[in-house]
Amino acid sequence: MKKILLALAIAGATGLAVSSLVAATVDEASPIFGVKIPHGYREWQMIGVAHEAGVDELRGVLGNATAMKAYRQHTLPFPDGTVLAKLAWKHVPLPGLNGAFVTGASTTVQIMVKDSKKYAATGGWGFGRFIDGKPADEAQHKTCFGCHQAHAGDHDFVFTRYAH
Ligand code: HEC
Repeated sequence: MKKILLALAIAGATGLAVSSLVAATVDEASPIFGVKIPHGYREWQMIGVAHEAGVDELRGVLGNATAMKAYRQHTLPFPDGTVLAKLAWKHVPLPGLNGAFVTGASTTVQIMVKDSKKYAATGGWGFGRFIDGKPADEAQHKTCFGCHQAHAGDHDFVFTRYAH
């Protein structure tokens, strides 16, 4: 609340558009796509896990009910309303157990939302990347679709496969 009041005060003092400043302060939506971290995503089911050599992270990908149904029924393209959440955490060694790791602090939460009309220009997907709940900048959001298109174009721009 304090932040909102401060934003309003600054906006008033500087003559900036109040609505845009408040949106930036409280809305937490990603640039370009306007994607937010969905409520309750941590209760979703696991689709699979991923690892990237050289990156100090462990990752898991979760899906909402629409996503899980599509995966189980091999529905492609994914239907509108599909939401995917990629969670990443620090890769923390277990003391005294050489080579064993567990998850540590969260590094990023990344979201993909399927809305074939709204996001027609990016394969029907809206993207959001969040660090400590705050969206990453516009430059980062410009890279999302290009890589998913180049390397996962045969699977509706989604890399993760259902881990049985
Ligand atoms: C350089 C390539 C690259 C870029 C750029 C990229 N991704 Fe991905 N993304 C991947 C790969 C590879 C995976 C598979 C899982 C993994 O390796 O962590 C993935 C997985 C995902 C997933 C889980 C669903 C899936 O496709 O498997 C989400 C959600 C996601 N990325 C969101 C984003 C967002 C949001 C951005 C932009 C801020 C982004 N990605 C940019 C390569 C990329």
